[in-house]
Amino acid sequence: MRYRGRVMEKQLKRSLSAFVLVILAAVSCTGIAAAQAPAPDSPDIEAQAHAMLAKLTLEQKIELLSGIDNMFTRPMPAIDLPRFKMSDASVGVRTWGPTTAYAGGAALAASWDPELARKIGESLGRDARARNVNFLLGPGVNIARSPLNGRNFEYLSEDPFLNSTLVVPFIEGVQSQGVIATVKHYALNNSEFNRHNIDAEVDERTIREIYLPSFEAAVTEGHVDAVMDSYNLVNGVHSTQNDFLNLKVLKSDWGFQGVLMSDWDATYDGVAACNNGLDLEMPSPKFMNAKNLLPAVQSGAVKESTIDEHVLRLLRTELRYGFTTRPQFDPADSTYSVADRTVALQGALESITLLKNQDHLLPLDPAKVKNIAVIGPDAYPAVTGGGGSSEAHAFEPVSILTGIANLHGPDAHVFYSPGMPEDPAEKKAVEQADVVFVAVGFNPKTESEGRDRTFTLPPGQDALIEAAAAANSHTIVLLTAGGGVDTSRWLDKVPAFMLLYYPGQEGGTAVAQILFGQHDPEGKLPVSFDRSWESNPSAKWYYGDPKDNTTLHTTGENDQPKDYTIEHVKYGDKLMVGYRYWTTSGKHPLFPFGFGLSYTTFRFSNLQAPSLATKGTIDPKGIAVSFDVTNTGTVAGAEVAQLYVSDPSAQVDRPERELKGFEKLQLAPGETRHVTLSLDARAFSYWDEPAHKWIIDPGKFVIRVGDSSEHTPLDAAIDLR
Ligand code: BGC
Repeated sequence: MRYRGRVMEKQLKRSLSAFVLVILAAVSCTGIAAAQAPAPDSPDIEAQAHAMLAKLTLEQKIELLSGIDNMFTRPMPAIDLPRFKMSDASVGVRTWGPTTAYAGGAALAASWDPELARKIGESLGRDARARNVNFLLGPGVNIARSPLNGRNFEYLSEDPFLNSTLVVPFIEGVQSQGVIATVKHYALNNSEFNRHNIDAEVDERTIREIYLPSFEAAVTEGHVDAVMDSYNLVNGVHSTQNDFLNLKVLKSDWGFQGVLMSDWDATYDGVAACNNGLDLEMPSPKFMNAKNLLPAVQSGAVKESTIDEHVLRLLRTELRYGFTTRPQFDPADSTYSVADRTVALQGALESITLLKNQDHLLPLDPAKVKNIAVIGPDAYPAVTGGGGSSEAHAFEPVSILTGIANLHGPDAHVFYSPGMPEDPAEKKAVEQADVVFVAVGFNPKTESEGRDRTFTLPPGQDALIEAAAAANSHTIVLLTAGGGVDTSRWLDKVPAFMLLYYPGQEGGTAVAQILFGQHDPEGKLPVSFDRSWESNPSAKWYYGDPKDNTTLHTTGENDQPKDYTIEHVKYGDKLMVGYRYWTTSGKHPLFPFGFGLSYTTFRFSNLQAPSLATKGTIDPKGIAVSFDVTNTGTVAGAEVAQLYVSDPSAQVDRPERELKGFEKLQLAPGETRHVTLSLDARAFSYWDEPAHKWIIDPGKFVIRVGDSSEHTPLDAAIDLR
């Protein structure tokens, strides 16, 4: 007994000292981890990276060019290099277990709020540190060219300027926490069908003006430290071995110094990838391995200096972040926190977009609306995001049903049914309710990575709305979707309609607050909302013609020949994406880009812009354009003032108008704010294909200011010489 007692005492002492050590380590980690933001490159970092490189054999260097265990870079004991962890990304950090799910992608874009983008980026960075993650595999910034793309919910908008303006603070937010952001999917990954085998055939002007600016801003302004190449081909060559995208544009034109990784299993040829800019094959060395690269170095097909350059990029980036000298896990950060939930709620509140509000049915008065019916497949449980690699298991997600019931507290009379009830007594509950909320749309199974979605709502949902509207004239449709859907069967039968995108884990609370007037709806469409899929400008160009299919012969993993049937998708819609098409053609979508209703009203006035300017005056400050926005209603609300530029005297065809500035304003009733926006040279430029550069044609430009791409009450002409 005494002996056992002594052993226990010893064990206790040992565990106590271990505990003290852990606490000390944690305390010192916290101290070290506080210096989180990456250091700029420096001669010292370069010297360290080169010294590490010098200790490696060619085989070891090749080993570093690929990932391991699905989500890690490779460790290299010879230089004391541990492995570093990666995690997706778009709505929450999904590495393991539950996480905070934010209003990511399309929802974030609907907020038109760069400061929200920064906050969500910071929160994701902290969530990543709390889970020991070094690389966050986001943000996704591909242009929403078609509503069918199954990943639009993860991306931002149809407009390169809006994307660029949001992606920069988002990246800064993530990276300020000592986590590498990875902008993806580079490039022209605008659909999910057949994603390994699509060849996006696009002219350079369209690529530069529409599809690359958000990546360009991520690199040149956001200083993103990782980029992920997409699965598809671009103009005949897979992205992971595309010299134009990777070497010419990314690494040369934009001067990218970070790590270029492949999407998961998006590498098709080790030698071609190695020679054309790919630094890191994820998730495993199927192609960039010793079997393929050693003989290539020996034969001269790959230079050892090319391999060195890839390794140096990895080492330099990891050194800049201090990954080799500090623990990535930061005990100062919470795995779950009220602060994160607040950011998630803010995201949902800022993004939800009110599209129809007949006779000012909304906001509802909670004192008067007592009997509520909440029906539909998306009412419960909460649908926080779409499907695929971004799918995050949210902490305590609030569904539309529970959000509405919670807002009403103990007095609520809330009837719930996932569909239209068949029992006559329950049908009465719907008929006699003061209001019926029909929550329809998609979910991770029906809107997901890896496949496209339908433009029509999933089966039975149109009929559900029609039945609810027939039973009760106060039927309000709440749509969960990454963008537009076919509303033709029911929109004129319901008095109110709101688009929620995928609002994250606090969506239910935000919806309830907006419906019942505790928060003014402030989301603005980040995409044009089409009447039909056929009317979308990309519709006739979206699929390849099977007659044009070609075969790509490759050598697969085990030296087996592998053939891909390549589908050639010709982007014949060129620059005419979304509102660029609608405003140029003079036709109208159902709801225009930039549109969203509020419970208050705003007036735009007093536009001031120089009538004459010279190209020389644009740099470095830009041309200042100013105007006033007044809240003319009786409640506080937010407006997004949008500035579009037209170039009627251009030598080439240009879209009728393009977004080149915006500002989100929170205004009290009666308040006026004077807004000044600055237009830089790019705001007036187009990509001159023969000259391979951005140019400005001197002449007349028109500045338009308003609250959507179609409603611009202010305009002024600038003669630019
Ligand atoms: C997706 C990427 C993701 C990766 C790792 C791929 O399927 O396309 O966006 O980052 O998986 O999960």
